[in-house]
Amino acid sequence: MTKPPRKVSAPSAMWGGRFDAAPAAIMEEINASIAFDQRLAQQDIAASKAHCAMLVRQRIITKAQGNAILKGLDRVRREIESGRFLFRRDLEDIHMNVESRLKELIGPAAGRLHTARSRNDQVATDFKLWVRDAIDRIDAGIKGLQRVLIEKAEAHAATVMPGFTHLQPAQPITYGHHLLAYVEMLGRDRGRFADCRRRLNECPLGAAALAGTSFPIDRAMTAKALGFSGPAANSIDAVSDRDFALEFLGTASILAVHLSRLAEEIVLWCSEQFGFLKLSDAFTTGSSIMPQKRNPDAAELVRAKAGRIIGAAVALLVAMKGLPLAYGKDMQEDKEPVFDAADTLDLCLAAMAGMLKDARVDAGRMRAAASAGYTTATDLADWLVGALGMPFRDAHRVTGALVRQAERKRLPLDKLGLAEMRKIEPRITKDVLSVLGVDNAVKSRTSAGGTAPANVRRAAKATRRRYLG
Ligand code: ARG
Repeated sequence: MTKPPRKVSAPSAMWGGRFDAAPAAIMEEINASIAFDQRLAQQDIAASKAHCAMLVRQRIITKAQGNAILKGLDRVRREIESGRFLFRRDLEDIHMNVESRLKELIGPAAGRLHTARSRNDQVATDFKLWVRDAIDRIDAGIKGLQRVLIEKAEAHAATVMPGFTHLQPAQPITYGHHLLAYVEMLGRDRGRFADCRRRLNECPLGAAALAGTSFPIDRAMTAKALGFSGPAANSIDAVSDRDFALEFLGTASILAVHLSRLAEEIVLWCSEQFGFLKLSDAFTTGSSIMPQKRNPDAAELVRAKAGRIIGAAVALLVAMKGLPLAYGKDMQEDKEPVFDAADTLDLCLAAMAGMLKDARVDAGRMRAAASAGYTTATDLADWLVGALGMPFRDAHRVTGALVRQAERKRLPLDKLGLAEMRKIEPRITKDVLSVLGVDNAVKSRTSAGGTAPANVRRAAKATRRRYLG
């Protein structure tokens, strides 16, 4: 048996000058990024247009050549927008797909576009532009969620619920106060994204492969045209830096953890055992076997998706670790984790906002739970300090004894009775009753940042100004 002759196809038109044959199919498959980096199309064309305009102004190419290129790039953009564009895997990536189509459309002038640049500075520029847009989108998503949280906090500034530590009832708080805690967390997330955006906003274009170029380019011009604050200072750093993607993913991970904690609370609160919250039908699923079930699937999925986003951060950290300067193809692996994390966050933020907007609060269940478990014991101890002048440690001990007594009698603290209390501390007066109810407990927490309803109303207003303005 003779082997069929191996079919030898032509080398790449884009870089095959020194090659005799095309890559093996498997080589093409592992090498190509077009399946995912086609998402950089708009950024790639914008960066090419900026580069082309600069080449013309610097007289590196002629005006006629430049105009042909600009017009051609706009046509390519329209083809991509309308879905008519044919992405080809043999052309590897978005950069070569765009350039190759440009050549089909305008002929040899297309070949001038790649003067004084490389795919290395090109991809770094495109990707930064994409991450910048993603940050702006995510910021709007976070803001939307903050708005829902603040609205609910205003409506529930005086809705009493148990506050927990160790998931044990600790002290009564208000639902509004609890929600505003998340508004703060999300505010810090927005701050981190804004920092990341500010730091990434230096333009790699013009670094070329890694060393810069001998053409008289104007990097400040392209940087400005693309909305960057200026060119990246060092050409080697410009093409090998992926800090912006790592920072994005690190920040995304912290946000995902915040969303996951909130999701976990929603799952708990919707349980029969807590019964604090009821999600709307629109944000609930049923069981195919148990007709009574109402499952908080969206919250569970938000909780789980944190794993995916943290995974993306770890994947890129590990891919970058140990890479020598400057560019390595390893860095092509930067895109999918970032795309996936950004998409996932868009979805989670919208789902969270929808869920919380519709959710109904069972104020009765919350109040009952806030009263159970001796959550006003701290108030009693504080009263002993204030009214009787006891040192807090002594008051703590006396209160412990009072709680134990109430527990023995299976009574809440405010039902234990004065006589019973005086057996433990004779100086207690009926004035103590004023601090034993959950409403009084909550109302008394007026220290800055505390849970008193008046505070919560003020805090909601302040967060509105700070985050929604
Ligand atoms: N598709 C490549 C990437 O995403 C573009 C840069 C290729 N550069 C190179 N020297 N092969 O990283």
